[in-house]
Amino acid sequence: MEFTTSTGSIITARTACLIVGIYDSRKLTPSAQTLDEATEGLIKTLLKNGDLKGTVGQTLLVPAPQGLQCERLLLVGCGKEKELNDRNYRKVVQAAAKALLGTKAKEALCTLAELPLPELELDWKVRQAIEAFGHASYRFDQLKSEKKDEDKPVLRKVSFPHTTRGEGALIKLGILQGHAINDGIALTKDLSNLPGNVCTPSYLADQARHLSRQHKSIKATILDEKQMEKLGMGALLSVARGSRQPPRLIVMEYNGQGGASAAGGRKPGAARGTEAKNKQKPVVLVGKGLTFDAGGISLKPAAGMDEMKYDMCGGASVFGTIKAIAEMELPINVVGVVPSSENLPDGDANKPGDIVTSMSGQSIEILNTDAEGRLILCDALTYSKKFDPAIVIDIATLTGACVIALGSQAAGLLANDDELADKLLECGQKSGDRAWRLPLWEEYDEQLKSPFADMANIGGREAGTITAACFLSRYTKDYKWAHLDIAGTAWKSGSEKGATGRPVPLLTQYLIDKAKGN
Ligand code: BES
Ligand code: MN
Ligand code: ZN
Repeated sequence: MEFTTSTGSIITARTACLIVGIYDSRKLTPSAQTLDEATEGLIKTLLKNGDLKGTVGQTLLVPAPQGLQCERLLLVGCGKEKELNDRNYRKVVQAAAKALLGTKAKEALCTLAELPLPELELDWKVRQAIEAFGHASYRFDQLKSEKKDEDKPVLRKVSFPHTTRGEGALIKLGILQGHAINDGIALTKDLSNLPGNVCTPSYLADQARHLSRQHKSIKATILDEKQMEKLGMGALLSVARGSRQPPRLIVMEYNGQGGASAAGGRKPGAARGTEAKNKQKPVVLVGKGLTFDAGGISLKPAAGMDEMKYDMCGGASVFGTIKAIAEMELPINVVGVVPSSENLPDGDANKPGDIVTSMSGQSIEILNTDAEGRLILCDALTYSKKFDPAIVIDIATLTGACVIALGSQAAGLLANDDELADKLLECGQKSGDRAWRLPLWEEYDEQLKSPFADMANIGGREAGTITAACFLSRYTKDYKWAHLDIAGTAWKSGSEKGATGRPVPLLTQYLIDKAKGN
């Protein structure tokens, strides 16, 4: 989809669909006021007759309105002006996007970014609107033999009007960012929605190579079993033993500092010396890439097990975030690390009671083979040290307990650094992709004691999300680290089944701010 900015009166705009906000009060939004005057009171009449109230998210489609040049007018309720905030604004643009996609309009002119939101910039408003159009037009039909035309979105282009040059520049920035984030979210959703028999560890590795071919600023490195063995990744490798699919450790290095030198980064060794100078420490994103989690010998129940194809959503969000920041050309360095494996029962699979040694040298007693995410993550977290990271954030569909604690509204956030945790919470709010912090007290860590090894891989029934993070924290002592448990937010079940693309909005917000030096 294409997004642009335009000038000119909305009265004479020859657009397939003009989108205008309506308050739930006598007051009219600037565009509604303009329209009302040009249409001999159309808006006020609709409000008076009760055809439209203006509550948040309500929509009304008016075909061929007299006095205007547009083919349709889409009115969108915005609630009361005084109650407008980021969350209501998002509901407004989401409702507009959904209603617009329900029409046959190929393009539209969207005035909603004019809504007054204290403390939120025009570029943010445009970005949020673009994300809403992206979500509403996303389809996953790659694997259907018959692609029904009526399901295909016809919308091609949305334009945002501006009056001043300053506005035009902010809208352009919002478009650049929104477009890139949409591409990242779509990639994350696509990888996540693909079934386990297509999206294997090797498939993900190919996707990393593909990204690196698309973007000069991304270098992909794939570690195979032999290389992982050399590094002593006994925890990660133990999970893969029950699978016919070989595991992969996928590394994507995004170098956003100084255009040309980014290309130099593609040849390891050659450019090393010069590059090292004033090179900023990277943010390392580690994403769980478990392409199917049957639980292993501690087998999961059959009902709903298909959803465990989504156990690589954390990894998929790393792919999507790297793609988005590469498209934005953010001037920072980011490394994505995705440990990828299947978790299946097999004669050679991990067994309860088995003890494995992780790359860090710490031994682990595997009491439940279904707590495999932490086993592949711990070696990836140890490996991440080699990048001398400023910050490490891991993202994982790690615990069912997190779904019970926070549902599908917020990701669980656990961190060994308060400043980093606060920043991520703030970015979650701002992007509408929220997280909620849980404690990492040492009393919880005691639940991981094992009589036979340095630790057990489970900590009992209580506080499952926290003990999982306590486990990871034993591997992240050397750097500032945050963990996002996205088990409840990464996909939707039921009739709307599908990946959400979260937490790409949160992560990209964090990196956009970081690039600005905030
Ligand atoms: N991938 C699952 C976590 C999960 C469960 C995500 C349900 C989304 C929905 C993870 O590998 C797992 O199985 N965790 C276990 C841990 C337990 C054995 C300590 C769980 O949460 O049940
Ligand atoms: Mn599991
Ligand atoms: Zn899992």
